[in-house]
Amino acid sequence: MTRPAIRSNAVSNPASNTTARNPHDQARDEITTGLNAHRAFVSPKYLYDPLGSRLFEAITDLPEYYPTRTERAIFAQHAADMARAAGTGSTFIDLGAGNCEKARSLFDAFRPEQYVAIDISADFLDGALETLRRQFPAMDIQGLGMDFSAGLDLPATLNAHRRLFFYPGSSIGNFPPLSALALLTDIRRHCSASSNDMPGGGLLIGFDLVKDTTVLEAAYDDALGVTAAFNLNLLNHLNALIGSNFNVRDWRHRAVFNTRLSRIEMHLEAKRDLVVAWPDGVRAFREGEGIHTESSYKYTLPEIRGLLMQAGFRDVRTWTDDAGWFAVCHAVI
Ligand code: AVJ
Repeated sequence: MTRPAIRSNAVSNPASNTTARNPHDQARDEITTGLNAHRAFVSPKYLYDPLGSRLFEAITDLPEYYPTRTERAIFAQHAADMARAAGTGSTFIDLGAGNCEKARSLFDAFRPEQYVAIDISADFLDGALETLRRQFPAMDIQGLGMDFSAGLDLPATLNAHRRLFFYPGSSIGNFPPLSALALLTDIRRHCSASSNDMPGGGLLIGFDLVKDTTVLEAAYDDALGVTAAFNLNLLNHLNALIGSNFNVRDWRHRAVFNTRLSRIEMHLEAKRDLVVAWPDGVRAFREGEGIHTESSYKYTLPEIRGLLMQAGFRDVRTWTDDAGWFAVCHAVI
C-alpha cells in the first residue's frame, strides 16, 4: 500500500511516527506474504487506489448494489430519530469517509461541532474535503489519511467534545467477526471520555444483513461488469505497489456467497496457467486458481446486537428498511 501522503490541510498521521519501518516495505511484505500463501489472498484495502475509489463510487450507483441506496433511505427516513439518540454538536468521526456524501447528508440533523474524515485513500479524500469546506465554511473540517484496519490512532487535535463515530456502508463487513469485534472494541475505547468533563460518545454503524443468495451474488457481480473492473483494478494497483507483472487480461472476477461463513467472497481467477513475478518473488497459478481479494460478512440482527454488546456498547438501537436488507445501529458506551 502507498501509505497516503499527509496533506498540508490534513491532520498529521501519528501512526507514521511510530512505525520504524518504511510503510512501503510493510505493504510490500503484507502483499507478497498473501501472494505466496497456499491459497493466495490480498487485503481488500488495496482495492482503493484513486481509480478503485472511483469504481467503488460507480458500484454504489448500480441497480444490483442495494446496500448504499438502502442505507441512504434508512438515513433519510430516520435521521432525526438517530440524532435524538446520538445528540447534536459532537465531534463526528467518519471512518472510511470516501466522498463524504453520507456524512454530509446527516449534517443538518446531527449539527456536528467538528467533522473528522478518515480514509485510506488520502488523495481522493482531499478532493472531497475541498468541496465540503466550500459548502460548510463555518465547520471545523479535518482530514486524516490512514489505514485503521489494524487499530485507530487518533491525533490529539480532536476536540474534547462528545465523539460520535460514524462507520456506515457495512464496511465493518470486510473484517472477520473476531477482527470486527476487536475494531469495535477499539472504537469504543476511543469513545470514552479523555477528560472528566467530556461526555461519553457513541457509534452509528451500518451492517448488511443476510438475505437471498441470488440478491447477494448479483450485488457483487453486476451485469455491467463494474465490480469486475473494481476487483481486477487491484492487480494494476499491486503492479504499482510491488512492481509485479500481473496482466489484467489473464484474470476473471468471481463473487460467491459462502453460506457457512455468511460472507460474500470476491476472488480473481487465473484464466490459464501462468506465472506472476515481482522484484524478489514469483508465484505460479494454475488455470482456475484464485486470489481471494475480499470478504464481505453478512449479519443477522441478533448477531449485530451481540457483537456491539460484546464490544462494550449499550443501548443499541436499530433501524432497518422494510425488506430487512440493511441495518443502521446506534449504541453508546
Ligand atoms: C465498502 C466493504 C462495504 O463489501 O459491499 C462492493 C465493498 N466490494 N462491491 C462491500 C465492495 C464489492 C463494500 N464495502
